Amino acid sequence: MSRPYARITGTGHAVPAFAMQNSDFASLGIDTSDAWIRERTGIRQRYIARNGETCVSLAADASRQAMAEAGVTAADIDLIVFGTCSPDKLLPAAGVELQAQLGASKASAFDLNAACTSFVYGLSVGEGFIASGAAKTVLVIGAEKLSGIINWKDRNTCVLFGDGAGAAVLQPTTDQRGIIARFMRSDGNLAKLLYRPKGGSAEPVTPEIIAEGSHLVAMAGRETFKHAVYSMNEALDVALADAGLTGNDIDLLIPHQANLRIIEATAKHGDIPMDKVYVNVDRYGNTSAASVPIALDECMRSGRILPGMTVMMVAFGAGFTWSSAIHRF
Ligand code: UT7
Repeated sequence: MSRPYARITGTGHAVPAFAMQNSDFASLGIDTSDAWIRERTGIRQRYIARNGETCVSLAADASRQAMAEAGVTAADIDLIVFGTCSPDKLLPAAGVELQAQLGASKASAFDLNAACTSFVYGLSVGEGFIASGAAKTVLVIGAEKLSGIINWKDRNTCVLFGDGAGAAVLQPTTDQRGIIARFMRSDGNLAKLLYRPKGGSAEPVTPEIIAEGSHLVAMAGRETFKHAVYSMNEALDVALADAGLTGNDIDLLIPHQANLRIIEATAKHGDIPMDKVYVNVDRYGNTSAASVPIALDECMRSGRILPGMTVMMVAFGAGFTWSSAIHRF
């Protein structure tokens, strides 16, 4: 018997209540402007967690929607793959906290940190478990509370990021729908272009580290931009070739939402017109692991994704890591 395909049967997303506008940075003393942020990134606003909203609470909201959509209960979940680089705690894993909150009593759970690429990596991991028969119902999460790990004094980064969560339920199918191609890659030689320099176990947090802010996200923006374009192009090319498709065959491209200019460059490279590319970076900013699943859920709910469509997801993030997946709905 041929191996089953892994198919997305339900999606969900959640964001905090508070939408922070570009103009709000003035009150924090940040030397920036709405015009600069819009022109260089396409971002208009981002959601910021407050009042007890956390990475896991947002993930739980998104998960419940995805499970309802898929028609499964918490008791059906075999595995939780929790993609994040901003978990509520460093130990134990956010996935285990989510498992408890959902009451997913038979699920194993772990975190996957490929930064912004975590959800797309997570799809491949979930697919592997389903293809091997080790799991039948997998919950793949991309969730972040980046507002807790960014440097609110650094205009190079603090204007870019937002909080949020997205979730997808993966289940086996034999009718040739589901993930038909995937690609994953990394290059740790480039780690220092986007990272948190200190504050891990090698150099635990000290008052000096806190004072210099080196436990927070630091990014070489221009260099990261170049690698993002190059790597997303590669992720597009390899998965398309693997599936025997061209950009023409893609009904909808859901790229990581870091910067409108990166999205446009990726679409151009793949010869995919912008009306087949989903963009919501204007409303959410860069939500890292959450960006692709938030966009995916918006597409599912708004009718942008219909049965029979071929949808490509592509992401790039710290590491660097980059990945893509092609899913036939
Ligand atoms: O999600 C994972 C991966 N992340 C990404 O893919 C992000 C990749 N990088 C980018 O999206 C862009 O590089 C940024 C949006 C971060 C920056 O845009 P840029 O066009 O590459 O600008 P830049 O870094 O080259 O900076 C241009 C100027 C600099 O001033 P000078 O040196 O030309 O005088 C910056 O100091 O813009 C200045 N600048 C700002 N000005 C106003 C940097 N940040 C700001 C800001 N407001 N927030």
